[in-house]
Amino acid sequence: MQVTVNGSPVEYHVAGYGEPVLFVHAFPLNSQMWQPQVEHVSRGYKTVVLDLPGFGESPPAQEAPTMFSYVETVAAVLEAAQVDQPAVLVGLSMGGYILLEFFRRFPERVRALVLADTRAAPDTEEARQNRLDTAEQVLQEGPRVLVESMVPKLLTSRADDVVRLRVREMIFAATREGIAGALRAMAARPDSRPTLETITVPTLVIVGGQDDLTPPAEAEGMAQAIAGAELEVIEGAGHLSNLERQDAFNAALLRFLDDLGSS
Ligand code: MLT
Repeated sequence: MQVTVNGSPVEYHVAGYGEPVLFVHAFPLNSQMWQPQVEHVSRGYKTVVLDLPGFGESPPAQEAPTMFSYVETVAAVLEAAQVDQPAVLVGLSMGGYILLEFFRRFPERVRALVLADTRAAPDTEEARQNRLDTAEQVLQEGPRVLVESMVPKLLTSRADDVVRLRVREMIFAATREGIAGALRAMAARPDSRPTLETITVPTLVIVGGQDDLTPPAEAEGMAQAIAGAELEVIEGAGHLSNLERQDAFNAALLRFLDDLGSS
């Protein structure tokens, strides 16, 4: 399905019936990374996944993206998917950066948050410069640049070969403009740490025990700063904990969702 946001088409998919749960993907992947969760969760919930501009099946945005334009995209997809009640929002890594911005802008539209393998702190000056340099490199050389440098950081060396292949395919499917735009948007993202103490909805923080990009210490800090937040550390998983330990991630997610229903 498609919705036009700021003049550009955005692809999204809806499955299942019930309370709405929307998933925001990591960089530089796409909605397909959520397939194991959609299969599991859509048995009892209405799941919504989307491809951010320039990723998966969505063409790049006409204007350079920002965290706020990604939030507008998420809000437009919720509307197009006829989600007119507060939704559970699940984001991994860049998806989490976007959800913290979403919560700042539209707290009334959030039923609960799942923040996986992400951080609230902004980039260091060095990380910011690296992103800007990588954006230039990808515009010239394409996504291959990222496949070789990022896959070893996204998954542990023990990850399943099929998962590794799927991750590589998703990165290759991203457009140069989408990647560069996301890198620049992430480099410019604000400090979300002050937002954490304003979060009043139920929150689950998940992290792979072997996540080197957004390590468990980062997740612990976030969980401590958000009142009442739960923390789930998934041992044996790297950064893409939802793909590397699908069973554990799905179990934690479903338990959290089911508990919301009874709260
Ligand atoms: C992601 O998985 O979305 C990225 O690692 C986020 C980032 O580069 O900060």
